[in-house]
Amino acid sequence: MDDENRASAPTADNSGVYHLRLKSGDVPPYAILPGAPERTEIIASYWKDVRQVASYREFKTVTGAYEGVRIGCTSTGIGGPSSEICINELNKVGVHTCIRVGTTGCIVPDYDLGDLIIPAAAVRGDGTSDSYIGSGYPAYADPWVVMALSAACDRLGYRYGIGLAYTSASFYIGQARPLNEDGTGYWPSAAEHLIPDLAQAGVTNIEMETAAQFVVGRLHGMRMGAVLSVISNRVTDRWGDAGGEARSARAAAEALRILNGWDRDGIINFNVAMPPMRPQRVGDGGGSAGKQNGGEM
Ligand code: URA
Repeated sequence: MDDENRASAPTADNSGVYHLRLKSGDVPPYAILPGAPERTEIIASYWKDVRQVASYREFKTVTGAYEGVRIGCTSTGIGGPSSEICINELNKVGVHTCIRVGTTGCIVPDYDLGDLIIPAAAVRGDGTSDSYIGSGYPAYADPWVVMALSAACDRLGYRYGIGLAYTSASFYIGQARPLNEDGTGYWPSAAEHLIPDLAQAGVTNIEMETAAQFVVGRLHGMRMGAVLSVISNRVTDRWGDAGGEARSARAAAEALRILNGWDRDGIINFNVAMPPMRPQRVGDGGGSAGKQNGGEM
């Protein structure tokens, strides 16, 4: 039957990847990943030759050129599960480097609304990454992506810090927010201690995607990073953008431009960042079993 698909590897009607509706060649290998679909166009608003390539559910993709370098932007939706879908399917169409652009809540007094945090790593409270690998495996950013983001923020004159994020699978109880504005309702003791305990352990901020993206991307052989703007201050209990979302979008584009230059100049030995190839299984035949990224620059 024409409308049937393979359950283990479904494709979209246009023969593209199932959820993102993209095909190889539709997007450049360098991508910015916001959560919200409507942010893709805002992020791309100062690029040249901007084109919407696909839009389906929470996944919207635009491409364009930032300072002469072709980059893409695909929204992931909120949380780990939709991030996993997005990263898997971007990998299938040739993306090798991703920078999450998102918002976060700071939990230490060093940051305030509008500041940028570049997480070097994230505590894995996301849930999704547990489907891939045990909790002892670290969720860490590709060091080159962190360096490029830091260089980008320096060049642009932005206030930022290198942080340690906590990724939660929940916005309310899992981030120590009461269920009701008047403080009534379910309130487990763990919620009371969550933020002070994390801050004591050196965690700088809380959000909902970074750890899942770092682990899933890494295990797909991709370079992952994030730049998060502080939209909520959990120390002073204030919420506001203060220009942070625009700055994080600009910093991510600038970092991808820097990475593209480092790749072209051979400064980064791309393969060093990759995980090992999938071991050959019985019955796989004689050929190489895995796929490794690092093609187009
Ligand atoms: N996103 C989150 O998950 N938490 C915040 O406090 C702000 C943004």
